[in-house]
Amino acid sequence: MQPPMRLTVNGRAAEVSPEPGERLLTTVTERLHLTGTKFGCGHGECGACSVLVDGRLTYACLALTEACDGAAVTTVEGLATGETLAPLQRAFIAHDAAQCGYCTPGQLIAATRLLERNANPTENEIKVGMSGNLCRCGTYPKIITAIQAVARGEFAAPAR
Ligand code: FES
Ligand code: FES
Repeated sequence: MQPPMRLTVNGRAAEVSPEPGERLLTTVTERLHLTGTKFGCGHGECGACSVLVDGRLTYACLALTEACDGAAVTTVEGLATGETLAPLQRAFIAHDAAQCGYCTPGQLIAATRLLERNANPTENEIKVGMSGNLCRCGTYPKIITAIQAVARGEFAAPAR
């Protein structure tokens, strides 16, 4: 057993004692019970497990928790503000960008990072920025449409 280590997860302090070699995905979903982040391939190929670690887009199935000591982690649960969904979440709903929804948490995290880096991406830049996140249901066109809508500011204000 490793000594406890500290994370900040979605803005809240968390202390965890991961097993040696434990992956961040396991820590987040099984220890912290934040089950929005998904296990897909487990090999860094699908993006279902995407989270932000100190602002970097990270595959939580590959990241070792012990390497994240002191880091700020953002999961899909951290995108909303209380009951108010983030603009990307509202845009994904409005544009029907989730079919089965399994890839959606990772897509939302990747799209969040994309728009942080580039607030007005071209369609090609969206495709490149989202290329690490696969969708078996093939909702890519709707995901792109949702991201473009947020970039245009269409979802800046919460729906009433
Ligand atoms: S589960 Fe991590 S990239 Fe597929
Ligand atoms: S919505 Fe089903 S895998 Fe993407």
